[in-house]
Amino acid sequence: MKLSTVRMESENVKIIKTKNNEELSNKAAELFVQALQRKKQPVIGLATGSTPERMYELLIEQYRAGKISFEQAISFNLDEYVGLSVEHPTSYHYYMEEKLFHAIDIKKENTHIPNGLAEDLEKECEAYEQKISRAGHLDFLVLGIGVNGHIGFNEPGTSFDSRTHVVTLTESTREVNSRFFEKLADVPKEAITMGLSTIMEAKEIMLLVQGDKKADILNKVIHGEVTEDIPASILQRHPNTTVITDIEI
Ligand code: F6R
Repeated sequence: MKLSTVRMESENVKIIKTKNNEELSNKAAELFVQALQRKKQPVIGLATGSTPERMYELLIEQYRAGKISFEQAISFNLDEYVGLSVEHPTSYHYYMEEKLFHAIDIKKENTHIPNGLAEDLEKECEAYEQKISRAGHLDFLVLGIGVNGHIGFNEPGTSFDSRTHVVTLTESTREVNSRFFEKLADVPKEAITMGLSTIMEAKEIMLLVQGDKKADILNKVIHGEVTEDIPASILQRHPNTTVITDIEI
């Protein structure tokens, strides 16, 4: 595993290169555990999707082995689809329950995921933002990235000043995510996501990037211009971001 530091805009983003998804997930779990143990009541931001799945399995293994506890942790998920119930198998509520929460000792009342069924979605976004702020902001945030450079569901063109908001998903994101649904038409057209400003307030960020199909976007995010056309490029301005990837860059 090689650790290199790349000079980006005014700050440094650490890059950890790994051989494969297993090594990536092990390293990610290691940084996660360090963040979990650094503070009495750590506030952790969580992503869904394929990339962090193995990391969550490894965290469950460590919990079962008695090495870690989530009893004091507070979690905030990045995003949720609009219109899916918590029992819907492709909702992010369901994902988190199935991939992590059911198997660990995190307190239900300390887990937060935007409510995509809220009657007033704008109010839901404001309330979510306030909860994050009241918790003292995120100490540690796990991010994945879309092939179009989205983080959370902040699609290309999203303002760098954005806070938790409702988004219209791009057709490309709906197509990519349709692998989790029966058919494309079932993929919701909208979602709630933490905004880019909300994300940037996290004290530490860990971006996981797996698979060659993301090589092009990762290269742009790390070596390219900081632009709202590539939402993840904002991370060049973050003072404490680590990218863990199995891509040669
Ligand atoms: C998920 C999220 C998304 C994903 C991204 C990558 O909560 O916010 O930004 O992290 O779409 O997804 P995978 O890991 O499935 O390639």
